[in-house]
Amino acid sequence: MQDLKGKVAIVTGGSRGIGRHIALQLAQRGADVAINYRSRQSDADETLKEIEASGVRAIAIKADLSKMPEARSMIKEVHEKWGRIDILVNNAGITKDKSMKKLTDDDWNDVLDTNLGSVYATCSEVLNIMLEQKFGRIINITSFVGQAGNFGQANYAASKGGIIAFTKTMALEVAKHNITVNAIAPGFTETEMLAQVPENIREKIIARVPMGRFGQPEEIARAVVFLAAEGDYITGQQINVNGGVYM
Ligand SMILES: NC(=O)c1ccc[n+]([C@@H]2O[C@H](COP(=O)([O-])OP(=O)(O)OC[C@H]3O[C@@H](n4cnc5c(N)ncnc54)[C@H](OP(=O)(O)O)[C@@H]3O)[C@@H](O)[C@H]2O)c1
Repeated sequence: MQDLKGKVAIVTGGSRGIGRHIALQLAQRGADVAINYRSRQSDADETLKEIEASGVRAIAIKADLSKMPEARSMIKEVHEKWGRIDILVNNAGITKDKSMKKLTDDDWNDVLDTNLGSVYATCSEVLNIMLEQKFGRIINITSFVGQAGNFGQANYAASKGGIIAFTKTMALEVAKHNITVNAIAPGFTETEMLAQVPENIREKIIARVPMGRFGQPEEIARAVVFLAAEGDYITGQQINVNGGVYM
């Protein structure tokens, strides 16, 4: 199915994990895809090759999105290169987990700047482009932790809850211009982010998930691509892809 042919997509943090699968599935549907990464170029190069195998155009842009000027430059670079931006997937994210007793100002700021500041900066930069096109699909990756909270993740939960509130507000402001803004809220998903968690805690996590297993990045990506390709009348929503861990 090539229903995204002619569309240009950006996937932040698209070099590995959930973002990689989002980028690959968008490419399989025919979109040209720009992926972004912060530091691990070999992952980006590998994903780039896989995207190109779908016969679409692909670029990888190194940018630290915790810095707003770099996030804005990334959007400008794609627009200058390909002349439009139809789909923006804000997926880049980090954790720095500590209980409130141990959390430092740097832990707070790094996570808020990366996870939430980047979403504001890319959305604000892409806005005029999408307004001019009278078309845009923005999908922000939040987390069930932004809905439910989670021990040791005050910074991460605040960033992800902020994404949900931001998504609804931007959706309201741009709805009449044929720009939709939605959030996907994954549950525990098998990527390197989850691999950082010690094995004994992973077992406890699985016990919390009604479906009895972690999510796969492909499963999150399918929901993102649905919104990008078929979600024309869906805006301001948070769609949970979480195995039932939060209902
Ligand atoms: N995995 C889960 O269980 C889970 C659950 C709920 C929500 N999520 C959310 O899903 C998204 C993807 O998670 P994941 O598990 O796939 O993560 P991941 O495997 O750790 O990959 C993170 C990606 O983000 C990039 N990145 C990190 N900081 C960045 C920065 N400052 N600027 C630009 N790129 C940056 C990384 O680039 P480099 O490789 O170059 O560092 C990498 O491409 C995140 O927003 C996360 O919060 C994940």
